[in-house]
Amino acid sequence: MSMIVSSIINLKGGVGKTISSINIAHILAVIHNKRVLLVDNDSQSNTTRFFNFYDSEELSISDIMNEDVDIEDVIVSTRYNNLDLIPANMSLLKANEALTRKNNDYKGKILKKALEKVKDKYDYCIIDNQPGINIGVINALIASNNVLIPIKIDKFAFDGMEELIIQIENAKKINSGLSLKGCFVTQFSRNNVNYQGEEFLNRNTNYPMFKAHIRKSVKVDESSFANKPILEHSKRCAAAKDYLELVEEYLKV
Ligand SMILES: Nc1ncnc2c1ncn2[C@@H]1O[C@H](COP(=O)(O)OP(=O)(O)O)[C@@H](O)[C@H]1O
Ligand SMILES: [Mg+2]
Repeated sequence: MSMIVSSIINLKGGVGKTISSINIAHILAVIHNKRVLLVDNDSQSNTTRFFNFYDSEELSISDIMNEDVDIEDVIVSTRYNNLDLIPANMSLLKANEALTRKNNDYKGKILKKALEKVKDKYDYCIIDNQPGINIGVINALIASNNVLIPIKIDKFAFDGMEELIIQIENAKKINSGLSLKGCFVTQFSRNNVNYQGEEFLNRNTNYPMFKAHIRKSVKVDESSFANKPILEHSKRCAAAKDYLELVEEYLKV
């Protein structure tokens, strides 16, 4: 089996894309013994900083998007077994701007072409995306087998969801194998807003849902300050259990 590529996407920021990408990748690698490549596709570079790899001088995903390097030269090993990372830095902004200005059909397929080179080295590739849609996110959609959408339920939670579904449909025209694997609620807390929001999503057939939701836990915030995946920081907290369940489902469906 060759590498399965999953994009974690939401047009909104602060919904748990980065925390979910890191923890899904970590659990796949450490608990399920899968070989995992985590890709930071956000110029904010939160995933890269989490693993202490932020360096504006080092090779990063920008160099892949600029087609200046071999992907294998950009990949770094994290301190976790089976878990490698393609770091990002602020230069991704410029790289994406330059790519946007190019006028060819090929500019959406650069990440796909690069990842194909390492498809036998990994079982899973998890791409953490920036909020919104740009050429970098379109590259991720075209490079992916499937999409996972973390949703934080609040007043504006569903704004942009239709737009995101349209973007996925557009990407399917180029990447016919792409599917929406599922949405999952993050930062879930026991209140009416969350129960009703989840019920709305479960009823709405446009949005396939994971059964697992990720409960809100102060341990998650702590874990990011400690630069530790949740399982390492506090394996008994609610969010750790929920991410374990989410990954079980991810591997099944
Ligand atoms: N399950 C959770 N419980 C508590 N806080 C969370 C949880 N998931 C994410 N957070 C917090 O929410 C904030 C945004 O998460 P992040 O993953 O950076 O979102 P995004 O990448 O979508 O912008 C972070 O401060 C993070 O620590
Ligand atoms: Mg993020």
